[in-house]
Amino acid sequence: MDKFIIKGGKKLKGTVEISGSKNAALPILMATLLTDETCFLNRVPNLRDIRTTIKILEELGKKVIYDNGTVEVRSKRKLKTTVSYDLVKQMRASFWVAGPLLTRFKKASIPLPGGCAIGVRPVDIHLRGFEKMGAKVSTEKGNVVVKAKKLHPVKIILSFPSVGATLNLMMCASLIPGKTVLENVAREPEVGDVIKALQSMGANISLDEKGRIIIEGVSKLHGMNHTVIADRIETGTFVIAAAATRGEVEITECVPEHNEILLEYLLDAGFNIETTQDTIKITCRNKKIKPVNMKTAPFPGFATDLQAPWMSLMCLCSGSADISEDIFENRFMHAPELVRMGANILIDRNTAKITGVKSFSPAVVMASDLRGGMALVIAGLCAKGTSVVERVYHIDRGYEIIEEKLTELGANIKRHNPVLVGEEE
Ligand code: UD1
Repeated sequence: MDKFIIKGGKKLKGTVEISGSKNAALPILMATLLTDETCFLNRVPNLRDIRTTIKILEELGKKVIYDNGTVEVRSKRKLKTTVSYDLVKQMRASFWVAGPLLTRFKKASIPLPGGCAIGVRPVDIHLRGFEKMGAKVSTEKGNVVVKAKKLHPVKIILSFPSVGATLNLMMCASLIPGKTVLENVAREPEVGDVIKALQSMGANISLDEKGRIIIEGVSKLHGMNHTVIADRIETGTFVIAAAATRGEVEITECVPEHNEILLEYLLDAGFNIETTQDTIKITCRNKKIKPVNMKTAPFPGFATDLQAPWMSLMCLCSGSADISEDIFENRFMHAPELVRMGANILIDRNTAKITGVKSFSPAVVMASDLRGGMALVIAGLCAKGTSVVERVYHIDRGYEIIEEKLTELGANIKRHNPVLVGEEE
């Protein structure tokens, strides 16, 4: 398994360009199942989760060509309606193919995405929505089977604004004749990008003044040529990494308004932030980092995916700061590893109580999920000396050429691949 060897203690300096959004590209790739026509997607990051999604599309019967950020998805044969467990277990979002398959073929059989490191993550909101649309849901040999004779338009109030359920139900409704109304939906920018992609396929989807998604189902969708939005989580991660190292970084090709609350909190913490329409520049105003309490919340609240990187920053504050994780129930696995690097964190249920320390100390630590892994990289960049972050495969799920981008900013970070250097795993 790859590791990162980081010689920390250097300020990040320079310019970094943001990649396309993983969390928008994934469902848009899945939306290609809604048509037999050819679809082109641009600015698709080269990431493990994207490669998993491509494998899923291929297994279902599509021909997919990935070339330098552009993906062409063509029809090859009649689509299958089931995905193998080997693929689903790699990425929970695999379950999102259920909506497109159900609406086109009136059935889908997807292995139940089991528990995962950051919490139980059930799919009950998705399933309740499919049932309201007329599907029967059952579990057979570990698979969730959704079947319908006929699907009908309906009004659904989601019990929580789940990103995945919003996307799954929206894709499903796009081919159900009549008017479907989805209420209490996720308002994440990635949902907006999926709506744009579906509209370009001919879907009739709009948002009303109450923030509800209104879908007038059509009988057929056609191909698309869509460019994916910038990754706001990668953007936020670089802003936080720059702050934690007290650096000076300009982040380009991003959408600052997708990170508004983070930028506001960084101002509160004592950093200078300058933005244009598509750049963010962060510089250090004071030597000290002021403590800022934070609670994660659905968009436009503070993104749960930035909670772990934010924790690394707050570990260095002068004073004490609380972080409350209100989206996932088990998303503090990075905290004990940060403690091994000298941080002072006490976990009380869903709150992390942090007392700032002057600096991190180098250590060998282990990533146990994607964003938590990045929090450890940030701590490693700050700690004077050599740190090792193990299980980099988690980080590779969501950060494109991360060590190259950080090296460009002056970091000393190297990937150690034991297979390439002939070591035992
Ligand atoms: C997506 C993102 C993930 C992000 C999360 C919240 C992708 C690929 N993943 O995940 O990075 O952290 O949004 O912004 O885009 N829930 C239920 N029942 C359901 C569905 C969800 O109880 O049927 C709960 C989950 O367990 C969790 C919360 O709702 O506690 C939020 O989940 P959700 O918004 O669905 O996250 P994902 O779509 O899985």
